[in-house]
Amino acid sequence: MITEARKYQAFYTKSTPIVDYMVSKLQLNSLDKILEPCGGDGVFIDCIIEHNEFAKIDICELNPFAINILQKKYSNFQNINIRECDTLLDDELSFNSNFGGFYDKIIANPPYGAWQDYEKRIILKKMYSDLYAKESYTLFLYRCIELLKDNGILSFIIPDTFLNLHMHKSIRKHILTKTKIKELALFPSSFFPGVNFGYANLSIITLQKSNNQIEIRNNSFEVKTNYNNVEQLNNRNEDDLKIYTFSQNEILENPDYAFLISDNSLVSKTINNSKLKLGDIANCVTGFYSGNDKVYLKVNSHNLKNGKNYEIIDSKKINKDYKNINDILNGIETEKCYLPIVKGGNTKFLKPVGWYMNWSTEAVSHYKNDKKARFQNPKFYFKFGIGVPMISSSSITASLIENKLFDQSIVGIFPFEENLTYYLLAFLNSPTCNKLIRTINPSANNPANYLKKIPYKIPTEIQKNKIDEQITIILNSIKENGNYSSDNEKIINLIIEEIYGF
Ligand SMILES: C[S@@+](CC[C@H](N)C(=O)[O-])C[C@H]1O[C@@H](n2cnc3c(N)ncnc32)[C@H](O)[C@@H]1O
Repeated sequence: MITEARKYQAFYTKSTPIVDYMVSKLQLNSLDKILEPCGGDGVFIDCIIEHNEFAKIDICELNPFAINILQKKYSNFQNINIRECDTLLDDELSFNSNFGGFYDKIIANPPYGAWQDYEKRIILKKMYSDLYAKESYTLFLYRCIELLKDNGILSFIIPDTFLNLHMHKSIRKHILTKTKIKELALFPSSFFPGVNFGYANLSIITLQKSNNQIEIRNNSFEVKTNYNNVEQLNNRNEDDLKIYTFSQNEILENPDYAFLISDNSLVSKTINNSKLKLGDIANCVTGFYSGNDKVYLKVNSHNLKNGKNYEIIDSKKINKDYKNINDILNGIETEKCYLPIVKGGNTKFLKPVGWYMNWSTEAVSHYKNDKKARFQNPKFYFKFGIGVPMISSSSITASLIENKLFDQSIVGIFPFEENLTYYLLAFLNSPTCNKLIRTINPSANNPANYLKKIPYKIPTEIQKNKIDEQITIILNSIKENGNYSSDNEKIINLIIEEIYGF
């Protein structure tokens, strides 16, 4: 069963900064004929009539429930015409676009990847034969470009995948040959309340229809990225932004007309095109929780970060030979029943040992039965792998789990081939990996499901050997002196950069 929300992709633009920015890009004027092709509950309309009470507005909307809301809301507005129709198929709109456009301004947050039934898909494929019919937003964009008059302006909020994915080559060509791009703002999908698609960013594209091919080709436009927050969209002070200027001619000469914007486009390209992901070469799993750490967890010193409220471990109770105990997942019967556990905290390469978990048979039985405890993914406990804290401070970090327990604030990464562990440890600590994970998920969280999506590139034998060598030096240095030389890390990061290209 398909839900109503999924069917209509009813993600309304409940963000004043986004709505204000998009409406400002339309350069409204009192005689404008305006189209909102995906009405929703009218967020764009509300903002438009605030500026221009008598604007002549047509709203199209497919969902009868939303139509009902719109009709009630705008019942006193003679100038607002609401139609329950399918924007992509509607005959009246087709008629208007066949006559060279009808609207001065169009504003939309169209459905992304909206579900279409089989019959409709066949019609859409015929009507929009050049486009990738499964991605609804490109069909809306095409439709609306056709509906604009010469010099008419459109502002759309859509995923940024049209900028370089192969399947969107035709819509790129259409934009680049029928319109002048006025501005392109790129930002994380998390700026849109309630949405975060992980793999793609969002964009707001502002276009002006043009019949003048020379002007189109010579048109240059700005791409703005690096927004820290959504409010910055309307900020006149653009000091923090990265602004790139392109001419349309230049983009038309790129392979597949791809918009190759900054290193970030290479990052998204790598994410979108990579055949292998971390999840294909390693298990990425969440760790253990006792259910009551105050009782079961101990520290070797109160100087340990966040360690003050825990009891100090009696060193006689630490079991150093636990690796040789066969049925360790059932607990230890002797008094030496405390085992090292790796917890969160952003330390690269290797964390000092400081935390010990009670692993007596009674305690383990409690972990297995207690409702609050999480005895999850036990086959990875005490194995050789890597831990990535679920929450990063600034950059993602990874440290070795040398056959220890790891807690639930950590994602354990256990390569299917153990000899990849050092290479992955190097990669997960690199700026390259940080760019990838922050593009996949711009928040500072690294849950297992996002980590699994990180593209994996196979290093050459030489690259891998060099990295293994540098990691060995770093690990030995941490064990001997508690620190390591940044020169070794730089060498590693350069090799990773060479492998990924950024
Ligand atoms: C992402 S929402 C955006 C709504 C509103 N414009 C906003 O920004 O809050 C997309 C809207 O388009 C409507 N819709 C989906 N497919 C449509 C179609 N083929 N024709 C017209 N409206 C459609 C949905 O019902 C939904 O209200």
